[in-house]
Amino acid sequence: MDSIKVFAPATVANVACGFDIFGFAVDSPGDEIIVRKSDLPGVRIKAIVGDEGRLPKQAERNTAGIAIQTYLKHIESDQGLELILHKKMPLGSGLGSSAASAVAGVFAINELLGRPLKQIDLLPFAMEGERLACGSAHADNVAPSLMGGFVVIRSYNPLDIITISTPAQLFATIVHPEIEVNTKDARHILKNEVSMKNTIIQMGNVAGLIAGLMKPDYDLIGRSMVDVIIEPIRAILIPEFSEVKQAALEAGALGCSISGSGPSMFALSRDQPTALRVGNSMQAAFQAVGIGSELYVSGINQEGPRVLG
Ligand code: HSE
Repeated sequence: MDSIKVFAPATVANVACGFDIFGFAVDSPGDEIIVRKSDLPGVRIKAIVGDEGRLPKQAERNTAGIAIQTYLKHIESDQGLELILHKKMPLGSGLGSSAASAVAGVFAINELLGRPLKQIDLLPFAMEGERLACGSAHADNVAPSLMGGFVVIRSYNPLDIITISTPAQLFATIVHPEIEVNTKDARHILKNEVSMKNTIIQMGNVAGLIAGLMKPDYDLIGRSMVDVIIEPIRAILIPEFSEVKQAALEAGALGCSISGSGPSMFALSRDQPTALRVGNSMQAAFQAVGIGSELYVSGINQEGPRVLG
């Protein structure tokens, strides 16, 4: 095999209460990459489609490129490669765009070379993409994009990733308003200190959300989708945040919060029709102040990246 095409899914990181430790993958959108062997040494990006010319084409400055370069270095391969990246989701949207590209890239090269590494062992290379994109090698987008499902990062050092079962009928709504939030900025405004009171509330919700997903208990999922640490600070970055959240809850969502670092907002619902209704209400709330948006409704993607050809 000289060439491979791979899809990697978008992700919702944090999932309300689990800043940097929870994330889940969705069926769409996602990014695609074509990786081709080349006789010339080095990794070269031949084209990036769908980014309106905004992403750097030097491999070491691109999340897919750096993930592949770090991987090749680790396995001590000097395989030359050409990449074509298809960005199929908005940049700076809170949908894990940089992560999906990095995961697609590192999964594709590992397949192309006959799987020298296990899928879970690709994670540190994909995390290098996140370090490049926002200065922090967090794993709550890359891990679910790579492994599929709902993922808990129990520990970063050493890395300890747990995949949690989710109810088959659980549906996610993601609404991406047409504004952009830079993850680096959205991390910068956070406080370093957290009060004991809020830590206790957050720990209760973290435990409750995992228990709710695994039992499953929809009401417990909803009660636990509360973030008293990050959301109150980041909400100011999203116009109409409270109104959109209220609209989601009134339309029947179990809970609603910011997807990753925003500006996308997500909700979880107990079935697809509710998730769709929730999405329409959230879009209407943004539209009421003239903000257009894109809507994605999806089950929890259990598969992670896949080979397209
Ligand atoms: N956990 C990260 C954050 C996800 O909220 O900053 C964004 O990439």
